[in-house]
Amino acid sequence: MTQARRVFIKTYGCQMNVYDSERMADALAPAGYAPTDRAEDADLVLLNTCHIREKAAEKVYSELGRLRVLSQARAAAGGRLMVGVAGCVAQAEGAEIARRAPLVDLVVGPQAYHRLPAMVARAQAGGRAQVETEFPAEDKFDHIARGPKARRAPAAFLTVQEGCDKFCAFCVVPYTRGAEVSRPVAKLLAEARDLVSRGVVEITLLGQNVNAYHGEGPVSEGGGAWSLARLIAALARIEGLARIRYTTSHPNDMTDDLIAAHADVPALAPFLHLPVQSGSDRVLKAMNRRHDAAGYLRLLERVRAARPDIALSGDFIVGFPGETEADFRATLDLAAEAAYAQAFSFKYSPRPGTPAAEAAQVPEPVKAARLARLQAVLAASQSAFNAACLGRDLAVLLEKPGRRAGQLIGRSPYLQSVHMDADAARIGEIVTARIVSAGPLSLAAAAP
Ligand code: SAH
Ligand code: SF4
Ligand code: F3S
Repeated sequence: MTQARRVFIKTYGCQMNVYDSERMADALAPAGYAPTDRAEDADLVLLNTCHIREKAAEKVYSELGRLRVLSQARAAAGGRLMVGVAGCVAQAEGAEIARRAPLVDLVVGPQAYHRLPAMVARAQAGGRAQVETEFPAEDKFDHIARGPKARRAPAAFLTVQEGCDKFCAFCVVPYTRGAEVSRPVAKLLAEARDLVSRGVVEITLLGQNVNAYHGEGPVSEGGGAWSLARLIAALARIEGLARIRYTTSHPNDMTDDLIAAHADVPALAPFLHLPVQSGSDRVLKAMNRRHDAAGYLRLLERVRAARPDIALSGDFIVGFPGETEADFRATLDLAAEAAYAQAFSFKYSPRPGTPAAEAAQVPEPVKAARLARLQAVLAASQSAFNAACLGRDLAVLLEKPGRRAGQLIGRSPYLQSVHMDADAARIGEIVTARIVSAGPLSLAAAAP
């Protein structure tokens, strides 16, 4: 009998990596690997990595340094720790990782996860590091079955689209995830039904450009390409699926039917993450974003007209090459005008192989100062959004235990964290709760 083995998967980066890590665990289950959440207990450690900014990519090498110590201790005790690097750093750097960190047994890019069991078996048999960074023609998810029926946390991710054809001048995603590909509708509906049968009540549809979704419709319904709005409408008919979200969207793919879905589909949460990156048309053009600031703000108005209470979110980059003080002020203005419920902001980080990395760079102290100014504007608008929820009754999905005994943490429709006293048996319920206090980052509600 083969001995049970354990895999520890450490996830960095975006939600798509969170979803992929689950699917890697599914792929390895038939090979006898059970998940563990401690590297010390693992026979195989997989780092599911992110390459979006330099800091994210550097984390991999410091983690590999720590694993080397563990691996040496294991070898001294006569055992073996296998180490694999997956995700976007694996795709971007390939075999170079194994050269820099000889303890690495396998390097696997995001489109090749279905090949993991075979790679692990080959690595186990010894020999050189296994490297798979092709974009194979087959769909990785087709070859990975969901694991045995087990109850799951009430909120789940579902990847519906991967890759990007937009080539913003700063971004590695088109290189690490490849071209835009949408998964077929029938498979997504089946996977969503399976998730709901495991206790899931909220699904977040994922894609690097999720609103560019154009998956093949079921033959029974005439085939053809379905839009994201049509997919959402079909998902909303699944009994027991109370909430649907989607992320991340690109302004240029925000179609009329998707905006209308925010008015027409009750299960679609009133939340939209719509990155803009900059408020300066000059910078947007240099970024190859193909939209301008005024067009973006008009789009927000149309979305708000469809769903007046919608919570808006965005992403910003400060210190893109060539960004002047005047450009940056335009960003501050746009951020204030958009009145975001929350937003992410980053200092521009030059990424190898992207066009903007070659240009003259804005000095680091300037980037840092601009980031602090922008974050002050964004924090004020988030606090204002939260404060406006005081005294309201919000539908909160109870997701997990809080820090204190007897406390649970849930999510409002607007994606805010909400703390309240409630019994752990109620995890998975959507309760109506009165908001009694509002902080900069979260809300508190009275016991339901
Ligand atoms: N597909 C999404 C998200 C891409 S990555 C989109 O189209 O917007 C998430 C965010 O990281 C981006 O929105 C951007 O704000 C930021 N980002 C991407 N590349 C970056 C870089 N080189 N430096 C700093 N931030 C970056
Ligand atoms: Fe990157 Fe998003 Fe631009 Fe695609 S659209 S290149 S994922 S920032
Ligand atoms: Fe990072 Fe890759 Fe996601 S670069 S943000 S893990 S798509």
